Amino acid sequence: MKIIKSIVEMREYASALKADGKSVGLVPTMGALHAGHLSLLARVRDFCDKSVMSVFVNPTQFGPAEDFAKYPRDLGRDCGLAESAGCDCVFAPSAEEMYPEGYGVGVSVGPIGDTLCGAARPGHFNGVATVVLKLFNIVSPQAAVFGAKDAQQVAVIKRVVADLNVPVRVITAPIVREADGLAMSSRNVYLTRPERERAANISKSLFEAKALFEGGEQSVERIKERVASIINGALMKTEYVEIVDPASLRPFDKVIDGAALIAVACRTLESKTRLIDNIVVDCLH
Ligand code: PAF
Repeated sequence: MKIIKSIVEMREYASALKADGKSVGLVPTMGALHAGHLSLLARVRDFCDKSVMSVFVNPTQFGPAEDFAKYPRDLGRDCGLAESAGCDCVFAPSAEEMYPEGYGVGVSVGPIGDTLCGAARPGHFNGVATVVLKLFNIVSPQAAVFGAKDAQQVAVIKRVVADLNVPVRVITAPIVREADGLAMSSRNVYLTRPERERAANISKSLFEAKALFEGGEQSVERIKERVASIINGALMKTEYVEIVDPASLRPFDKVIDGAALIAVACRTLESKTRLIDNIVVDCLH
């Protein structure tokens, strides 16, 4: 597996693959890899001949009070995992390589970045969209895979690709869960042991919401209340529970009458870890 740190070298590697008739798929990550990330690699190989995984903890998507400094970083471990999952190339640039002296232009995603997670993380999705567009311009992949756990990120990237005519196919891979249902996340390592045990209630609340919906409950208010009561009852604090259109992220008003994304964000009380999860429900199913 190739490990590349320079943008020039990354471009050369990707161009050589393309000249050789190979399609290239990109899996953008911030490292601290887990089985969820490796499932993205497996998915990209369904669509492309060669896979590039970027590992870059992107400073522009962290707010001043967020965990940029303590975000787990271990490139050696990540490269070992990526290689064993069949990755062809890890692109791991430095912050100076991506944002050199004088850097100033970024993507502004508009209102889709202001709801859900964006309400508590102003500017976060501008930072995500900017770095993803930069990665697209550096790697020129035919396809890129993103995990469904970050549902708003997927919606934002799809908007960027559509609105800015970016020739990349955006593929979503399903959420990968621990045995007790907790969605895999690089931030799960922050949890204390009791918090880790209680964190399974987040997915439990979403599975219950889906069961309620499939049992005939369509009231947005009642489903949201049930989700919030399970999470808050497990000593976590919900930041939001929302039921929205999966593409536009516009909230359903009173009843769910189409495909809907039920999305939650909450914080644990002790380590103050912020966790997100979601589930999609649809009237047709
Ligand atoms: O999902 C992530 O890990 C990041 O937001 C991404 C897409 C790699 C951009 O930094």
